[in-house]
Amino acid sequence: MNGNVIIIGATSGIGKNLALLFAEKGYHVVATGRRKNLLDELAKENQNIVSTSCFDITSENALKKIDDIILSLGKVDIFIYCAGIAILTTYPDWSSDQQMIRLNIEAFTKCSGFMFNYFLQQGYGQMVVISSIAALRGGGSAPVYNASKAFQSHLFESFNIQALQKNKNIVFTDIKPGYVDTKMAVGENKFWVMPVEKTCEQIYKAILHRKREAVVTNRWKMAAFILKFLPGFLFFRLVKKNANH
Ligand SMILES: NC(=O)c1ccc[n+]([C@@H]2O[C@H](COP(=O)([O-])OP(=O)(O)OC[C@H]3O[C@@H](n4cnc5c(N)ncnc54)[C@H](OP(=O)(O)O)[C@@H]3O)[C@@H](O)[C@H]2O)c1
Repeated sequence: MNGNVIIIGATSGIGKNLALLFAEKGYHVVATGRRKNLLDELAKENQNIVSTSCFDITSENALKKIDDIILSLGKVDIFIYCAGIAILTTYPDWSSDQQMIRLNIEAFTKCSGFMFNYFLQQGYGQMVVISSIAALRGGGSAPVYNASKAFQSHLFESFNIQALQKNKNIVFTDIKPGYVDTKMAVGENKFWVMPVEKTCEQIYKAILHRKREAVVTNRWKMAAFILKFLPGFLFFRLVKKNANH
């Protein structure tokens, strides 16, 4: 066995594909999510390797569930936070914003802190978040989604600084995908929508290389570079031009 991997949000899309990929590569994978039927299907496809745990990561007992998984495994090499939600909001809408904040920020922060403390005790470990290219700039389709992804990226950068300051063998990997062909890639004007399998191959490589940050897929790297460094006045000119079309 190559090691133990826990994936939060592995019932569909990127998380499911990562679970299958890590299992295929000889890891012991624990897949989690709320939809039990999909977890059961996943376990059936990979009887020897994938075990599952069904819970809502925003629930009160989520950390207890994670603790139980860790106890059953004995050690954790890689912990992947793939659960995420994006709700399109053309006007501020608290009930949508709150759902995104609870999953993408609150539960994520709780899990990250919990795993950081666990890895400190264990002496090593890697936590991965699937943030987004949306972390790089604001966006007009789902402002709180973009803000939540920026939060994830900054928290991981800060935790990496703390791990280095402590001289510990702990890495926080921030994966920023462009558009990926899952049910989350909603809305119009999507371009360069990447197949989920190809995206996961590149995510897998970045995780194995213990990168602190990676944009996937390769064609999104240049777009990310431009997005990140484009001066504000040019960025807003571009946004305005697109809005007028
Ligand atoms: N698709 C894209 O274009 C794209 C681009 C950039 C970044 N991302 C990021 O990639 C990540 C995965 O998204 P995806 O595209 O694979 O979408 P997806 O197919 O909708 O997957 C989302 C996963 O999150 C889980 N989840 C949602 N709420 C949960 C909760 N309360 N507790 C536990 N698990 C929960 C879902 O499982 P259950 O519903 O079974 O709980 C599901 O397994 C997200 O963080 C997203 O922001 C996606």
